[in-house]
Amino acid sequence: MEKLVSVFIFFTTFLSIIITIAAKGCWTNGWAINVVNDIDNNKAPIQVHCKSKDDDIGMKSLGFHQSVDWKFCEKVITPSTLYFCHFYMGNKEQVFDVFNDTHKSLCQETDKSKDYWACTWLVRPDGFYIVDRKDGGEKVVKIHDWKQGRV
Ligand SMILES: *[C@@H]1O[C@H](CO)[C@@H](O)[C@H](O)[C@H]1NC(C)=O
Repeated sequence: MEKLVSVFIFFTTFLSIIITIAAKGCWTNGWAINVVNDIDNNKAPIQVHCKSKDDDIGMKSLGFHQSVDWKFCEKVITPSTLYFCHFYMGNKEQVFDVFNDTHKSLCQETDKSKDYWACTWLVRPDGFYIVDRKDGGEKVVKIHDWKQGRV
């Protein structure tokens, strides 16, 4: 009988852990990346191709206020996930990491209970801005310029 009780306790504990993880979506931190075209309504769409070592988001064409969005869970063992995007706007281009250990600290929100922390990039005519949420607000900070020609 005693054995049966401990087996029962083991399984209910195991089950509640699984349910907790399934509800949260990730073992550790989850991240929701948004790359938003914030370039004037009447301009031509931009092209954005984002990927990581093992996840290709694909080439997307973004009109005004359209975005490419994806979510991922940080790896438990090796948590340094890296996503980079290649941007095309007419004869200008740029390529950089949209998510790495540097940007992670800016995107990390103060609300620890959130399932996914948002990491938002705004693509503007004069360059690329990240939304800094680390102090609880939403501070828009310029990180990169566009480059003339191919990169
Ligand atoms: C993260 O990416 C930025 C470019 O957006 C780069 O300047 C920075 O050095 C990178 N950080 C790491 C830790 O690789």
